Amino acid sequence: MHGWLNKMETRVIEIDPQDISQEKVVDAAAYIRRGEVVGLPTETVYGLGANAFDAVAVKRIYEAKGRPSDNPLIVHIADMEVLDEIVSYVPDDAKKLMADFWPGPLTIVLPRSEKVPGIVTAGKDTVGVRMPSHPVFREIAREAGVPIAAPSANLFSRPSPTTAEAVFSDMDGRIPLIISSGPCDTGIESTIISFAGERPMLLRPGGVSLEELEDSIGHIDIHTSVSNPGDKVDTPESPGMKYKHYSPDAEVILVEDIGKLEGFLEEEEKSGNKILLLSLDDIGLTIPEAVRHISFSDAAEMAKSVFACFREADTQGTDKVIVVAVDKDGIGLGLMNRIGKAATTRIR
Ligand code: TXA
Ligand code: MG
Repeated sequence: MHGWLNKMETRVIEIDPQDISQEKVVDAAAYIRRGEVVGLPTETVYGLGANAFDAVAVKRIYEAKGRPSDNPLIVHIADMEVLDEIVSYVPDDAKKLMADFWPGPLTIVLPRSEKVPGIVTAGKDTVGVRMPSHPVFREIAREAGVPIAAPSANLFSRPSPTTAEAVFSDMDGRIPLIISSGPCDTGIESTIISFAGERPMLLRPGGVSLEELEDSIGHIDIHTSVSNPGDKVDTPESPGMKYKHYSPDAEVILVEDIGKLEGFLEEEEKSGNKILLLSLDDIGLTIPEAVRHISFSDAAEMAKSVFACFREADTQGTDKVIVVAVDKDGIGLGLMNRIGKAATTRIR
């Protein structure tokens, strides 16, 4: 590990989204303009932002995150005027989506302009662009006067951070500044739609639902990584630990057949494992005393808290996080996609 990564002092500045301090915005924007990496709130998850036109600053993002640089970054803008500097062409359907869903949790992949450094797009000829709705993010981006390249502010493979405290726990000593503006609204990342091919394609479900997108522009193809998220169909006895992402240290188990939940919980209780159960309200089961159960009124509420619950599970030394599946409509598609990627076992 590089010495500077360990020695850096990480400042935290609180900015209230209801009452934005211009002085603090100017302070934060100065870091971006100097080529530093800043932990920034967005309405989806916190991001690690830097000037997208500054290749050296962008390299620092990959270093802070510990992420391989073959994975491209999303470029965030505060105003439409900046778009032309980032992309070379905008099809009519993409324009329609921008009009309907920006600012908001939608990333649109388009042919990139020459001005965007190759390190941002990992050498691709396309770039993902998004206009976040978070007022603090927008003010800082405007004040900085540059588009902001930003991945989620977690260490590589960890759950995305939805609070400034989560950013601090992953990034303390690795970046100079974190802006703290409370918990994120959506809680999972933006939806990504690509216009790189002949027809629009959903690359990642997220904050804007597929139904909403199709209402706007008609049929959208779905990338196979979304429709067939892998081969992790397994019995609880033989966990298929193949691919982990968005993961806590605790084992994540996705229960698709609720009929098998009661028996499974009893087994786990007998073996003395410390369990956190996440589900919607009213699953119609008596949950054993020893199981910590957090339930949510709907999928949107679960999405808002799921990454924070993953992180809390680790703080409390939980062995297994058991999640009861929700319907894959609305935000449920994105939520189940993230949980599916974090899970090592599915029960169905
Ligand atoms: O909500 C979000 O999108 C958050 C906040 C901070 O804006 N950002 C985020 O970034 O989730 P990240 O880097 O954690 O995930 C971005 C994903 C990556 O999987 C990357 O491969 C994909 O977007 N991506 C970025 N540019 C792309 C491109 N040109 N073509 C295809 N995929 C792209
Ligand atoms: Mg991420």
